[in-house]
Amino acid sequence: MDTNTTTRARSREYFARAQQSLVEGVNSPSRGAAVYSPGPVVLERGRGSHVWDIDGNEYVDFMMSFGALIHGHAHPKIVDVVSQTIAEGSHFAAATPAEAEAAERFRRLVPSAEVVRFANTGSEATMLALRLARAHTGRTKFLKFEGHYHGWYDPYCLNGHSHPIGQLGPPENPTKIPDSEGIPPSVFDDVIVAPWNDVAALERILREHGRELAAIITEPIMANMGCIPPREGYLQTLCDLAHQYGALFILDEVVTGFRYAPGGCQQLFNLKPDLSTFGKALGAGFPIGAVAGPRSILDRMRWSEHMVLHYGTFNGHRLTMNVVAANLDLLNSEGTYRKLFAIGDGAIAGLRDVFRRKNIPAIVQGFGPMFQIYFTDRDVIHGYRDYCQYVDTKKYSRFVHALLDRGIYMTPSNGLHWIISTAHTGQDVEALIKAADQACAELS
Ligand SMILES: Cc1ncc(COP(=O)(O)O)c(C=O)c1O
Repeated sequence: MDTNTTTRARSREYFARAQQSLVEGVNSPSRGAAVYSPGPVVLERGRGSHVWDIDGNEYVDFMMSFGALIHGHAHPKIVDVVSQTIAEGSHFAAATPAEAEAAERFRRLVPSAEVVRFANTGSEATMLALRLARAHTGRTKFLKFEGHYHGWYDPYCLNGHSHPIGQLGPPENPTKIPDSEGIPPSVFDDVIVAPWNDVAALERILREHGRELAAIITEPIMANMGCIPPREGYLQTLCDLAHQYGALFILDEVVTGFRYAPGGCQQLFNLKPDLSTFGKALGAGFPIGAVAGPRSILDRMRWSEHMVLHYGTFNGHRLTMNVVAANLDLLNSEGTYRKLFAIGDGAIAGLRDVFRRKNIPAIVQGFGPMFQIYFTDRDVIHGYRDYCQYVDTKKYSRFVHALLDRGIYMTPSNGLHWIISTAHTGQDVEALIKAADQACAELS
């Protein structure tokens, strides 16, 4: 691997230029100086599991476009489909065979998908799911969990960032902390917040608010505070509690969908959500969102005086639909998930071994294709409050910056997670372990 990360002079020059015309030089804060110091590594090219920056430095990419690139960069089959489709017209905003090709494959793979509606981002999908749930139940309020991220739609922008533990309030009545300015405070009157992985606190909250809820929305594996798996049986309990109070159970599989199993976490944990939302890996690098569920709920979007409105010039984009169909065929091929798990579990075991040998208090949490490193004295991080209280996110940032200098591309934000794609290899894992071993020297 041609790694020469001692210089990123051109990245710095480009970043100075980009800041003249773009806010913070990027189009989403998590790509810029908010997390990368002194500024982002500016990427120019990718192939398979590797990327190159504009200085010519090569990296193994473990970020994979926030998880969107399930087959890595420029997979030959995806490149072919894109080239062929574009040559015939990328999008018509009309009915196309491409939509049914994608939807039929989707339904075959996702257990709860009697029907599916495509949108363009995960945020659009979760926005639509909430609207459907409100229409279906005739209720307005909904419950979300601390530290879960469901996109940037107003009512979801609550308690999604980490804060000092003293600001969080009691678990049975968390203090509402908006993630953004510009949202009318009244929007949050309809949002009930609860701690995740804590059945006792949830039951207390539901006794007070359960009957008012249209839905409980949850990530199946908490992926926006790193990687926090649910306690045994927790998600089924959530589903049962939601139903006990007449609310819908919405599973937000934007991160986990098509990653842990062809049918996502609902297949892995044998769950039956009322609605589930998808994005990221479904589009193999192209913008996508989807809501899946039964006709009894999704048919509320059928044209009528009382319909649930969902419009969008780019919904069912022909190029993306053809990519989705090709992507789902690739994912459905023999051995795909075995490989994802083998490579991911190998990386997790290797990293744990490095920290153990170096005597560094750190844990690697997650399994298979997604995991996160926490510098902490704890054995396990169970939720948002553990993350806020016990995880040294600054140390993690230092560690990842040291990895960047050794040919490993990853975001220094501890709230995200390491992603394995079908393009990663055993050599990539070896490169990671070697770099991690060296980076540990820079931690003290
Ligand atoms: C669980 C979850 N839901 C929804 C979203 C929003 O998806 P998008 O960024 O495609 O709008 C994200 C994005 O990271 C996510 O992690």
